[in-house]
Amino acid sequence: MRTIATARVALEPQVAAHADEMFVVLADPAIYEHENEPPASVEWLRERYRRLESRRSPDGREWWLNWVLRLSSSQLAGYVQATVYPDERAAIAYELASRHWGQGLAQEAVRAMIAELVATYGVRRLTAVLKATNRRSLRLLERLGFAPGAPELHAALGVEPDELLMVREA
Ligand SMILES: CC(C)(COP(=O)(O)OP(=O)(O)OC[C@H]1O[C@@H](n2cnc3c(N)ncnc32)[C@H](O)[C@@H]1OP(=O)(O)O)[C@@H](O)C(=O)NCCC(=O)NCCS
Repeated sequence: MRTIATARVALEPQVAAHADEMFVVLADPAIYEHENEPPASVEWLRERYRRLESRRSPDGREWWLNWVLRLSSSQLAGYVQATVYPDERAAIAYELASRHWGQGLAQEAVRAMIAELVATYGVRRLTAVLKATNRRSLRLLERLGFAPGAPELHAALGVEPDELLMVREA
C-alpha cells in the first residue's frame, strides 16, 4: 500500500500507530447516526489496526485496505477502506468526523482511493452498502457515479431490507 495525495487530503496506509489519534476522531457520535458504534477503547482499536496491517483476509484471498485521511493541517479526519475480492470487485466504505462534512473531502478521498484500486489492485467493479436512511452517503455515491444495484446482486451479497446496494463499473 502506498500514500496517495490529493489537493487537500493525504491517504496514509493505516497502521497501529494511528490508533490514539483515530480513537479521538472516531469518538464523534454523529458518525453513528445510521449504523455501528464507536470503538470500545483505544487498546481495542490499536489491536484491530495491528491485525489489519497484514492487508489480507486470514485465507489470503482478499485485500483488506485501509487508509486514514490526513488534512494539510496535519489533523486526521477519518478513513476510507476497501475489501478487494478475487473476482475484481471492491466493496468500499468511509467515515469522516462531522466537523469535516460538507466540504467535498470525502468525495476527494474516495475518488482517489477508487483510482488506486483500479490502477494497482485490478478492480473493475465497485460496490457500497449503506442504510437507506443515510442520505449523505447516498449523495456521495451518486456524485461518484454509483447507481442502484440489480435485485439479484442484492440477494447474492446478502443486502438487508433496510439497506441500499450501490454499484459502479470501474
Ligand atoms: C458519508 C460522509 C463521508 C459524507 O460526507 P460529506 O462531507 O457529506 O461528503 P462529500 O465529501 O461528498 O461532501 C459533499 C458536501 O460538500 C459540499 N462541498 C463543499 N465544497 C465542495 C467541493 N469543493 N467539492 C465537492 N463538494 C463540496 C457539497 O455541496 C456537499 O454539501 P451538502 O452536504 O450540502 O450536499 C459523512 O457523512 C460521514 O462520514 N458519515 C458518517 C459515516 C457514514 O455514514 N459512512 C458511510 C457508511 S455507508
